[in-house]
Amino acid sequence: MQKEVLILAIESSCDDTSAAIICNDKILANITATQKIHEQYGGVVPELASRDHQKNIIPVIDAALKKAGVNLSQINGIAFTRGPGLMGSLLVGASVAKSLSLSLDIPLIEVNHMQGHILAHFIKENDLQKIPSFPFLCLTISGGHTQLVKVKDYLDFELLGETTDDAVGEAFDKAAKILGLGYPGGPQIDKLAQQGDYTKFKFAESKVDELNFSFSGIKTSFLYFVQNHTQKNIRFVDENLNDICASYQKHLVSVLMKKLLKAAEQTGIKDVAIAGGVSANSEVRKQIEKAGKENNWNVFIPKLEYCTDNAAMIAVTAYYKYLKNDFCKLDVAPMVRMKI
Ligand code: KG4
Ligand code: ZN
Repeated sequence: MQKEVLILAIESSCDDTSAAIICNDKILANITATQKIHEQYGGVVPELASRDHQKNIIPVIDAALKKAGVNLSQINGIAFTRGPGLMGSLLVGASVAKSLSLSLDIPLIEVNHMQGHILAHFIKENDLQKIPSFPFLCLTISGGHTQLVKVKDYLDFELLGETTDDAVGEAFDKAAKILGLGYPGGPQIDKLAQQGDYTKFKFAESKVDELNFSFSGIKTSFLYFVQNHTQKNIRFVDENLNDICASYQKHLVSVLMKKLLKAAEQTGIKDVAIAGGVSANSEVRKQIEKAGKENNWNVFIPKLEYCTDNAAMIAVTAYYKYLKNDFCKLDVAPMVRMKI
């Protein structure tokens, strides 16, 4: 019988302060404090994010321990997000994790946030659950990244393609800002798009090599599209909001799907997953299911609570690192950029 391993994981890479307790690959608690302060600025303000992490981190850890019914003295390892992310935000999680590791005299485990998003697929919910087989393809789509990854093993990743400029999440968020919607804009565009006609407007496509992506041109052409129409009709956005959202969302998702299909074709891999905040998008989820049926893929879609940033994904990644004794020293420093 395998020994039970209890890990406390902390995620603080951007604007969500999250703590999770995992027992092997089963999550006992996953508590996230979402910072509301950024809404009024239409995007994350790094300085304010760090301050909110400072305020939230201990209460969030306490709440996770309480929910899991676990004492700090029972914990076998402390995990934290090392990067990529905002330096001031990462420093809060890293410092708290180091202090706990030092005071409890237990191993410290650093986790790559992008690996975490992917390994969220291995959080065990029940015995019947389908999990991807190695190697599988993962389209990781978030506010900071857009990556196509070949996952060869739990901790063995090959980057097949990525964005050359903005992430797809940014393309959602910036468009929402242009339309006067709140932050984060992705979920709002998704919601309004449900009532809209996606055939109404067409957007330009960026040509990018191989399995890479580009969203900055699409974002700029969206700005010009709105400006041009508004010059002719001041009420253009109000009168067409749902159709604009539906058409723009459809366009972004079709860009993603084209590259995902190409990657599947080139590699011959049939297990295909999505991960990251934008994988919560209803059109992304619909289109990958559809492509799965048409191409005989085994499709893996994360539960909604494991799409956007959360410590559960950091905890499960840390569990696989713990099994390999992959620990780090107390002088480890966070990294704003970090390769997968
Ligand atoms: O993974 P995540 O929580 O944070 C990063 O690592 O960046 O992703 C956040 C991104 C934001 O851009 C947000 O607008 C987007 O995920 N997002 C969505 C949806 N839910 C979250 N985008 C489109 N549709 C959604 N339903
Ligand atoms: Zn993320």
